[in-house]
Amino acid sequence: MRKALLVGLLFVVGCGSSGTGATCPSNNTLTYENFGRQFFASYCDRCHSSSTQPVMNSLATIRANSTMIDSEAAAGPNGTNTAMPEGTPAPTTAERTQLGQWLACGAP
Ligand code: HEC
Repeated sequence: MRKALLVGLLFVVGCGSSGTGATCPSNNTLTYENFGRQFFASYCDRCHSSSTQPVMNSLATIRANSTMIDSEAAAGPNGTNTAMPEGTPAPTTAERTQLGQWLACGAP
């Protein structure tokens, strides 16, 4: 009974997409400066800094696309999304988990 409620709640929060269900840890230390910038530079910017794909090479555009990014590339309690990046280099699952948490924190 309680579990069904929780699953229902996660479904609503995730908008029914393949969101990871990642949450922001209370002791979060990830920021754009120490994590986000490097993550996107390493794994995403080679395709997503032009206008042919959703552009995510600034903090504002990352925040604006946060739900989609979570569903494409992050990891969390509900699963690991590996649709992005296409090809290599690709982030490790640990890095995808950090991405999910950082986005859940509002990409500080
Ligand atoms: C090799 C090129 C390439 C790399 C690297 C890449 N992407 Fe993409 N991405 C694409 C292309 C092409 C599309 C549009 C077509 C598609 O959805 O496959 C896309 C689409 C997307 C979308 C939009 C999906 C939608 O539903 O509209 C998101 C979000 C995304 N990428 C996130 C990322 C993230 C996050 C990274 C880095 C971890 C990344 N991508 C790395 C090529 C790339």
